[in-house]
Amino acid sequence: MTDIISASEKIAHIRKEIERHNHLYYVEAKPELSDYDFDKLLEKLIALERQFPDLVTPDSPSQRVGGTITRVFPTVQHREPMLSLSNTYSLGDLEEFYNRVRKLLLLEGVHEQDMVAELKFDGVAISLLYRKGILVRGATRGDGVQGDDITANIKTIPSIPLRLPDLGSLFALGEESEVEVRGEVFMRKEDFEQLNESRPEEDRFANPRNATAGSLKLQDSREVARRKMSFVAYYLKGYDDDAASQFQRLRQLEQLGFYTGGHYRLCHELPDISRFIQEWDEKRWKLPYETDGVVLKLNDARQWAKLGATAKSPRWAIAYKYPAQQAKTVLHAVVFQVGRLGTITPVAELEPVLLAGSTVSRSTLHNFDEIERLGVMLHDRVIIEKSGEVIPKVISVVLDERPLDAEVVRVPLVCPECGTHLEKPEGEVSYYCPNEDDCPAQIRGRLLHFASRDAMDIKTLGKALVDQLVDLKLVGDVGDLYLLQEPQLEMLERMGRKSAQNLVRALDESREKSYERLLYALGIRHVGQATARELASAYPSFSLLRLATEEELATVPDIGPVVARSICDFFSKPSLPDFIDKLERAGLPLCASDPKEQVNRNFEGISVLFTGGLERHDRQKASELVLERGGRVVGSVSKKTSLVVAGREPGSKLDKALKLGVKVVTEDEFEAML
Ligand code: IVH
Repeated sequence: MTDIISASEKIAHIRKEIERHNHLYYVEAKPELSDYDFDKLLEKLIALERQFPDLVTPDSPSQRVGGTITRVFPTVQHREPMLSLSNTYSLGDLEEFYNRVRKLLLLEGVHEQDMVAELKFDGVAISLLYRKGILVRGATRGDGVQGDDITANIKTIPSIPLRLPDLGSLFALGEESEVEVRGEVFMRKEDFEQLNESRPEEDRFANPRNATAGSLKLQDSREVARRKMSFVAYYLKGYDDDAASQFQRLRQLEQLGFYTGGHYRLCHELPDISRFIQEWDEKRWKLPYETDGVVLKLNDARQWAKLGATAKSPRWAIAYKYPAQQAKTVLHAVVFQVGRLGTITPVAELEPVLLAGSTVSRSTLHNFDEIERLGVMLHDRVIIEKSGEVIPKVISVVLDERPLDAEVVRVPLVCPECGTHLEKPEGEVSYYCPNEDDCPAQIRGRLLHFASRDAMDIKTLGKALVDQLVDLKLVGDVGDLYLLQEPQLEMLERMGRKSAQNLVRALDESREKSYERLLYALGIRHVGQATARELASAYPSFSLLRLATEEELATVPDIGPVVARSICDFFSKPSLPDFIDKLERAGLPLCASDPKEQVNRNFEGISVLFTGGLERHDRQKASELVLERGGRVVGSVSKKTSLVVAGREPGSKLDKALKLGVKVVTEDEFEAML
């Protein structure tokens, strides 16, 4: 009994700490703990909860790591319709809106007309329901009346509080209390780029909004947790409703622990509004997330109901959207790129032109349907556009200025790299080079993908080297890489003895990578990092995976029929047995390993601090080696630190360690201990 009481106190304490650090990190952007220490805290909580399962609650931060699989999201009714906003691109329309609101207010005898200007976040609208202060439901807008219940996925988003603080005097979280918060789930640019990098080229998201919408609908909440999404709140209901203005409500949302972005302003008059819009037109490019405009809301929320709404949008608010940045330029040529999966992508070569702060000289045309849709010809004047996204695209042709020498863009009959006749599979928009095994472009693409950071991470295998290896026919597939010898490599351009050694060593080290990385690195169509992870846990060895049928594969979470098909295609290629032999001989990880079996746990209970530069591994790798062996890596020295590894030019931490009498070793000694 006392056990459970003290455990419950401990659990409550850790939960509070975790949520406090979560808030510091995700809402205030002022972290106090290292990621590592944060993870440790979370692990401690999970371990305790496992020991005392009765103490698990729905608002525990342990619920954020996901783990539920939802097959079908139930439909739920919104308490009040979730309206959208009317959009405009014109400042004139804004003035009209402003005057219309004034007239309506005057009819009510109201003379004050402050507006709140907020940034318009480009994401997915979500409603959150808190009962007695606990998050009980997260739903999409759907058609505005009914949405999908995606609570399990919503809980994985760290900037969404799972429990509201009881702010006592302001508001009592009584039995009946129901608070609704609405806002936008979005992805920061950096997180979006990272996500896309982890995905196969053919499955990348076009923009952060699509990535967010796709991620919120995943069945496996553990995968959602990995997607790194954020939430910005802009609407609060059921909490101090009478008194609050929109401005106050935004402040209250912040007090309740929500992120609001912080860039909103109370505007007394029309010119204040234009100023806000102008300011952010420039500053928005520097924000870590995308905004596509500004939302204006009547500040006095008591008047909202009186002004009412049309079928789709309220009369007390409007969205101003920034026009996309455009430029006119000349299309000089269209070149055809061959991807690692044989896809032919037409790329426009443009007269270089400055657009929203950078020079643009190329832009993808995606496929021939797109060329046809645009009606674009060689030498045309074209309009390119950069909207929220970073990558510009051709959006139209200036037909009035079509030159006399304009030429039709011809579909190439053969692969520009290997001359093989191209194919266009039924129902697809792209042409493919079917010469999978011998097309140099595809081989190069596969090798580069294999070596990329999230795959086998072979840093010394760059583009220039891959080009030579393939041109000289030294390498035909990723298995051949492991047959390369130093003398051969030394002869290549820009490769000395040292670089040859480095490459061989890097290849050697890559054998230690995990089975799931290898699955990803092979570049099977539609198999990104997430799918590779699912596959590795459902089929812990290559030999099992080879035998899986399409139907079986399609029962793995988030693997649909298309992905299942493509995996089967990969394994039924006639050249596959030879290829697998080669991988096996190369010593690559063809099955999942139990880390405890392979590595000893001789760092169990030992905390290690690194200071100065290391020669053998980088910091990251050295830390991993310690963690794998059960040890901890710390960032500062104290009496409790077990070991300090001093590299080249160690810092003041070495002095401190010596003063405290902490054991200090060189990198070689550390290596020996491993
Ligand atoms: S208020 C009735 N505020 O833009 C009020 N919406 O184009 C409805 N949005 O449906 C929403 N940032 O998904 C509001 N600061 C903001 C917003 C915002 C983005 C989204 C929201 C809305 C859509 C309308």
